[in-house]
Amino acid sequence: MGQPTPDRDDDWWRSAVIYQVYVRSFADGDGDGTGDLTGVRAALPYLAELGVDALWFNPWYLSPMKDGGYDVADYRAIDPAFGTLAEAEKLIAEARELGIRTIVDIVPNHVSDQHPWFRAALAGGPERDLFHFRPGRGEHGERPPNDWRSEFGGPAWTRLPDGDWYLHLFAPEQPDLNWAHPAVRREHEDILRFWFERGVAGVRVDSAALPAKDPRLPDFVAGRDPHPYVDRDELHDIYRGWRAVADEYGAVFVGEVWLPDTERFARYLRPDELHTAFNFSFMTCPWDAARLRASIDDTLAEHAPVGAPATWVLCNHDVTRTVTRYGRADTGFDFATKTFGTPTDLALGTRRARAAALLSLALPGTVYLYQGEELGLPEADIPLDRIEDPMHARSGGTDPGRDGCRVPLPWTADAPHAGFGGEPWLPQPAGWASYAADRQARDPGSTLTLYREAIRLRPVFGDGPLTWLPAPDGVLAFARADGGALCVVNLADTPAALPARSAPLLASGPLDPDGRLPKDTAVWLRA
Ligand code: GLC
Repeated sequence: MGQPTPDRDDDWWRSAVIYQVYVRSFADGDGDGTGDLTGVRAALPYLAELGVDALWFNPWYLSPMKDGGYDVADYRAIDPAFGTLAEAEKLIAEARELGIRTIVDIVPNHVSDQHPWFRAALAGGPERDLFHFRPGRGEHGERPPNDWRSEFGGPAWTRLPDGDWYLHLFAPEQPDLNWAHPAVRREHEDILRFWFERGVAGVRVDSAALPAKDPRLPDFVAGRDPHPYVDRDELHDIYRGWRAVADEYGAVFVGEVWLPDTERFARYLRPDELHTAFNFSFMTCPWDAARLRASIDDTLAEHAPVGAPATWVLCNHDVTRTVTRYGRADTGFDFATKTFGTPTDLALGTRRARAAALLSLALPGTVYLYQGEELGLPEADIPLDRIEDPMHARSGGTDPGRDGCRVPLPWTADAPHAGFGGEPWLPQPAGWASYAADRQARDPGSTLTLYREAIRLRPVFGDGPLTWLPAPDGVLAFARADGGALCVVNLADTPAALPARSAPLLASGPLDPDGRLPKDTAVWLRA
């Protein structure tokens, strides 16, 4: 009897290309201006042709949409604006038939204030223990129980008419759950099973480092360890419980873990915890060769000891679109410094974003694409009176919010609303149709064509670890141990000579007539 051969398919997530679908803005099948599951189903051939291995759906559950669905009222129902549970099941099955797996988003830190638990808690039921209710400070309880600030600005506490306060690290419509309560753990393990039973292959864990709180809810003291609500040790036991459930189904996790400390970050990726986590240090890194190389090296070094694959992310539904960011004077990303009216050079940003696409698709690990990234969409300016993201209002109006990267996609250049469907819930800026997928599909020089080609060719790099090759300052050049290709990215001010006897497979822009690689351009070469 031979050894059982390992099913290579089980490891699909270690090198997958995963496409993020923000359903509300993806494709509108019923013409009401909001994207929906019918729209996604109709676009499955497009996604298959792009070559992605899985779709990650932002929360699609019943929700009052006070934070784009990250305020979940019922995990076992699809929001009626998007469709029905039966249609979600169809979508999961149809996608799988095309070789595309489904990842859903779970938001353990909080629920909607319309969730039955919170409504029962407000009515004075024992469900109060599932949240963090506290009396206020001050003679009449008029001051919040502690000094924590909401991630969206303002205090993290809201007072109820009965005098008690409740905790919300995000908007007041998103009350934080009490993870010290066993019913909260049980319920989330049930939710995981509910979706795994429906064929879901993975789960994104929203705000994964935030759910556990110091039970004393003390004031925040800078530098004091442990933090009262970020990255607490109790979380690891919670995720071990989740992992046991996922293992029954062969499903995988990707954690949204924002932590500057790489050693603490890697703890979430130990073999009995989350499989992967988003790489935000790469995503927020400025367009600079030395810093990108350091970010890549740090990423690989921090993942190696725990045996987890790295992920490579250039943007998502929370951050400024890559094309716009890379065209600015400051090409990094930081929530704290976002303002209106930052000048950008879109031609420059587009050149760099195309080069960054070839860079990230050549690296070892999983690559995440955010819808519209493959079309090279820029960040849109949203008229002030149309901004819905609570980050804008809660910042006192200084933060533009995140709607600029959430504008409904352009599909067909010559159709109303660029083929999205009905009058879009967020306005599409002038010129949006020029990015339409149908036009780009016919254009060999388009960003869509570049992504399609790159995803198709990507296996030539092989599965092996990365080796840097000698290159001038400002140029990144690497190959993979068992691969047949190399990747060269020029971030220097002058054109770079390419290695002798190497044939270009794919380039993010035209090479110079003498065969050199222009600045802000990447090329894949056959080794
Ligand atoms: C995550 C999501 C973001 C949401 C927040 C609160 O950061 O990506 O969109 O607003 O969690 O759930």
